[in-house]
Amino acid sequence: MDKVTIHTLKRSKEAGRKVCMVTAYDATFARILDDAGADVILVGDSLGMVVQGHGSTLPVTMDQMVYHCQAVTRGAKRAHVVGDLPFMSYQASPEEAVRNAGRLVAEGGVGSVKLEGGQEFDATIRAIVRASIPVMGHLGLTPQSVHKMGGYVVQGRDEETAQRILNDAIALEEAGCYALVLEGVPLELARQVTERLSIPTIGIGAGVHCDGQVLVCYDLLGMNPDFKPKFVKRYANLYGDIRGAAEGFFQEVREGQFPDEEHSFKSKTIRLVSSNPPSNRTTQERDRDEETGPLYGVPV
Ligand code: KIV
Repeated sequence: MDKVTIHTLKRSKEAGRKVCMVTAYDATFARILDDAGADVILVGDSLGMVVQGHGSTLPVTMDQMVYHCQAVTRGAKRAHVVGDLPFMSYQASPEEAVRNAGRLVAEGGVGSVKLEGGQEFDATIRAIVRASIPVMGHLGLTPQSVHKMGGYVVQGRDEETAQRILNDAIALEEAGCYALVLEGVPLELARQVTERLSIPTIGIGAGVHCDGQVLVCYDLLGMNPDFKPKFVKRYANLYGDIRGAAEGFFQEVREGQFPDEEHSFKSKTIRLVSSNPPSNRTTQERDRDEETGPLYGVPV
């Protein structure tokens, strides 16, 4: 099992092999998605919305990103893991950007970082790349600019804004980005950007011509019945599955059907006493009676 690197991704574009990217925010999901064959796992700042319940990605902090990156990198074995630089972690100065990118790599364990924005971040991207940290760009609908965009609206629909996005994409490649997310742009613009660049483009709401695709894992798994934008395809209905499973558990608890014999412990002898005499058994002696499993200290 060869670890995916930024070089693997470049070769994928050259070979016409689509890049499969997906978000994850914890070790359990990272492991499942890695086992399923993800090339890239993005620890997206979308966690501000899908994990933390905010209305935007703006409140996510560096410490939170480090925490989630640590969890995901423990779960992912083969995939290349990318960490999002959150709002205000790279906008103020290239120096701050390098330090924060360094934290995601050194503390979070990721193999590269992603930041949103065009040629205005040329110096910032060059500084991070100079520090030997690979950078993934992100153009089009950039959620950290939600207030500037006036909402989560498709970008590059007219010639002027489309041209700006193409120019930004060229600038990001020249600044040293190894790949580029194109979010919420018309598929014809994504096709032109993809053809013009030698680095892979990874689309979300950007049509089929990109070199790869990314979705938020909770979206493709159907975790939120209230969120179904045009660009999301649900490959499962986990909201229904999880809710159904939980309802089954609650019903069996209420009806006294769980735990049954299969899920209960037995002992050879139970000697009952009416008071609580001080035990003279050592902790090791007590532990030997019932071996404790590794999970949450629950006996198995
Ligand atoms: O934060 C995120 O999940 C992202 C993807 C939508 C590309 O940036």
